[in-house]
Amino acid sequence: MVTDGIFSMRGDYAPLAEIKKIAARFDGLFKEGVLMIVDDSHGVGAIGATGRGTEEHTGSGPVDLLIATLGKAFGVNGGYVTGERVLIDYLREKAPLYIYSNPITPGEAAAAVKALDIVDSSAGRGLLGRLRRLTLRFRQALINLGYETLAGEHPVVPLLLRDTARTRTMVQYLTTHGILATGLYYPVVPRGEEEIRFQISADHTEADIDEVLAVLGAFPGPV
Ligand SMILES: Cc1ncc(COP(=O)(O)O)c(C=O)c1O
Repeated sequence: MVTDGIFSMRGDYAPLAEIKKIAARFDGLFKEGVLMIVDDSHGVGAIGATGRGTEEHTGSGPVDLLIATLGKAFGVNGGYVTGERVLIDYLREKAPLYIYSNPITPGEAAAAVKALDIVDSSAGRGLLGRLRRLTLRFRQALINLGYETLAGEHPVVPLLLRDTARTRTMVQYLTTHGILATGLYYPVVPRGEEEIRFQISADHTEADIDEVLAVLGAFPGPV
């Protein structure tokens, strides 16, 4: 069973604990069992009390194979797979992208290890707490301004406009006011789910967040 942990477009997540129960229910029906594979590129380093991603956020415990990028919260390049030794050994022998592609550089690997150390330190906890606070401030204020978003804690915060023309107008408006915003239109997202994807970073300041909110609050059209 394969799923994302956090879904990249809207910052919502798969109910991993429930999916894990379904995997366990069907495990005995297959000779080699049922494997649960989760891409949590947007979860690790961004969500969960200690930044361990959707597994931690949902309390699912470890899945069979956790795949993620080093290119988001860790700010480096490349990616990784974690799982039981037997699965990792199998991938080392059989995964074409692992065997026939250039690896990341030693410098990138060292930077990734350092990024992991930071997430796992008290400074990292501080950054995660700050990220949560800034995200909450932004998400709650969007709702107060009458905009549609999704409930949640993830720093990908969607502003759902549900129409291509409305989304384009808003992107244009934000750009003219010095705010870089990316509109997501069909076919990147299904029709009716057109949105702007805001991404909060622990490096943002309260003033950054409030500046965007002030511009959104002054939008001249209906929201
Ligand atoms: C779920 C998910 N996995 C992987 C990636 C890409 O990772 P990488 O750039 O390391 O290939 C992305 C997106 O940008 C993503 O959203």
